[in-house]
Amino acid sequence: MAASPASVADVAQGLRGVAYLPDESTALVSYLAAKLGKPILVEGPAGVGKTQLAKSLAEMLDRRLVRLQCYEGLDEAKALYEWNYRKQLLRIQAEAEGTGWDAVQDDIFGEEFLLQRPLLTAIASEEPVVLLIDEIDKTDQEFEAMLLELLSDFQITIPELGRVEATTMPIVLLTSNNTRELTEALKRRCLYLWLDYPDLEHELEIVRLHAPELDEHVGRRLVEVIAQVRDLDLKKPPSIAESIDWARTLLLLGATDIDAKTFRETMSVIVKHRTDLDVVAERVGMRLAEPEDSVGAPAAG
Ligand SMILES: Nc1ncnc2c1ncn2[C@@H]1O[C@H](COP(=O)(O)OP(=O)(O)O)[C@@H](O)[C@H]1O
Ligand SMILES: [Mg+2]
Repeated sequence: MAASPASVADVAQGLRGVAYLPDESTALVSYLAAKLGKPILVEGPAGVGKTQLAKSLAEMLDRRLVRLQCYEGLDEAKALYEWNYRKQLLRIQAEAEGTGWDAVQDDIFGEEFLLQRPLLTAIASEEPVVLLIDEIDKTDQEFEAMLLELLSDFQITIPELGRVEATTMPIVLLTSNNTRELTEALKRRCLYLWLDYPDLEHELEIVRLHAPELDEHVGRRLVEVIAQVRDLDLKKPPSIAESIDWARTLLLLGATDIDAKTFRETMSVIVKHRTDLDVVAERVGMRLAEPEDSVGAPAAG
């Protein structure tokens, strides 16, 4: 589907076609974003498919993905554009002596001396792109403020050059792991999508998609156990990515059930904090049945 989607169902089907299984609100908000030309702010815990949604939308719409990975201290020079000082300097040196400053200045603040960073790349692109501004919550409020012009008008002002306006409408996704509250001004400009851990059936479908050979029964047990683990008060609950890794692990080991032994041996694939491991072993591991061949063996203690 290269053109613009015709309906919500069209988006849902298109995303499935590129191996992303959206829930209803994901398909709806993605459709609206494409139609209304509004950015999407996607919030939710780590590993629930926020980044993947942007990648999958790009793939589905046959657009290039332009990605800005945010981090603490990210500034305009790395996000928008930067002047290529070295090249400017070389030009100044190369200019014949006696050239007036005005002439040199006109020259060195031209597009040739501009280094495009992701935001400018997305705006200036001749082909429509998907712009992913990933983990916006890692930046500070000044950076958010800087984004506002871009998000509402799809334009960037470069003092020396003037305004660069988007000629093709990018689809913009901002993601946040919710580590800080974003500003009202930013939220106002965006459609909002909350992505959470999926329900059992939905997660089972995702896991099956990524590990199709997994035994039917094991798959179902896997998502049930994952749900139990998420219910505990852990530092880092397992994400969809971890469910998928676990499925692949169980597949490799040829597991036919998730019993206490299998769980003990593989739980570090889904739980990755020392203290969480203890909690999970006690609260979930203890409740699982011991494997068949150890039934009848004398219980320890
Ligand atoms: N709805 C989904 N359909 C298919 N795969 C998914 C879905 N949600 C998550 N995944 C899988 O989980 C992985 C982690 O998702 P990711 O987008 O990196 O999480 P986040 O950005 O929210 O931390 C993805 O690479 C993908 O394999
Ligand atoms: Mg991510």
